[in-house]
Amino acid sequence: MKALILVGGFGTRLRPLTLSKPKPLVEFANKAMILHQIEALKAIGVNEVILAINYQPQVMLSFLEEYEMKLGIRITCSVEIEPLGTAGPLALAKQKLIDEPDEPFFVFNSDIICDYPLKEMIEFHRGHGGEASIMVTKVDEPSKYGVVVLDEETGKVKTFVEKPAAFVGNKINAGIYLLNTSILNRIQPRPTSMEKEIFPSIAEEGQLYAMVSMGFWMDIGQPKDYLVGLRLYLDYLRRNSSLELAVGPNIIGNVLIDKSAKIGEGCVIGPDVVVGPSCMIESRVRLSSCTLMKGVRVKSSAHVSGSIIGWHSTIGESAQVSGMAVLGENVHVSDTMFLQGVVVLPHKEIKSHFVKPAIIM
Ligand code: GDD
Ligand code: MG
Repeated sequence: MKALILVGGFGTRLRPLTLSKPKPLVEFANKAMILHQIEALKAIGVNEVILAINYQPQVMLSFLEEYEMKLGIRITCSVEIEPLGTAGPLALAKQKLIDEPDEPFFVFNSDIICDYPLKEMIEFHRGHGGEASIMVTKVDEPSKYGVVVLDEETGKVKTFVEKPAAFVGNKINAGIYLLNTSILNRIQPRPTSMEKEIFPSIAEEGQLYAMVSMGFWMDIGQPKDYLVGLRLYLDYLRRNSSLELAVGPNIIGNVLIDKSAKIGEGCVIGPDVVVGPSCMIESRVRLSSCTLMKGVRVKSSAHVSGSIIGWHSTIGESAQVSGMAVLGENVHVSDTMFLQGVVVLPHKEIKSHFVKPAIIM
């Protein structure tokens, strides 16, 4: 069985992190976003993953070569000269997607995290006999997604409306599809939207079905949602009694700490914290609802909450970083600074306070 992951786009909503690496390679819970997906695909027997790329293919490829070996799965690329949207890349990769014997294939948006109920999806797809299955999930704020109206009994999709202006329903496209290869006859290799063009027409013909997933789900392509996704994911690890989570008197709630990180005396860490490899957390540091990427140093008595700290950055002694701050790679915050809700581009030094959201270039 094959799968295609849509890894195009510039990841602008996850800047400044995506100024250092393509969005699918940004770590989520200490593992590149795309590896969560490839592992889930491998686990249900997918033997080839095709990455539909339109940006920095060399960076992606050298990273994934390593994992081809480690995970024992074929990873190939289909490179666009111009961005082909969310459907065009399927037509471009047509020859790669057609398998012998003819089998349906998975398509993933690269920026979603969930419990990947892929086995259930294969059963669901076989059961209804239509051409296409999409996974849907319930959300409170459907307007920023593709909304799916379906027949509750059969799962047959009545309408698919991408980013509706008015309320249509609260079940949304979760960005995971299982498609028969016949779908490829409907798509041309030019810029085309799966959500605006292909799905509405398949739905009209009564060939599109939706499986409602009850597990956790999040699109982690924006900093705020990234942190919400992290909370849901860590909770999922806890409920599945994962041994990865940290334990100790100074740990509150769900916390993931890479084994190469060093934690000083008197720190209080959690809830919902991820500490990356080679991080140095000095004494009396307070961390909550945040991610520290690889090689971050937090000096003594500093506080970090509700924020993402990029690779190899430093938070000075007694400094406070909070309110959805996102620091790019190699940012250095001086001692005692107060930073609230700022976005800091890579390689900056911060020597003054910022009490309200700003972009520091
Ligand atoms: N190869 C390629 N080429 N990939 C692309 C291109 C392109 O031109 N444009 C976007 N992508 C990829 C993105 O990298 C992402 O993995 C996926 O297609 C979806 O694009 P987003 O930009 O993340 O879309 P969205 O989040 O606004 O909406 C989509 O995802 C929602 C769920 O998170 C839609 O599919 C919605 O219907 C859906 O609800
Ligand atoms: Mg997205």
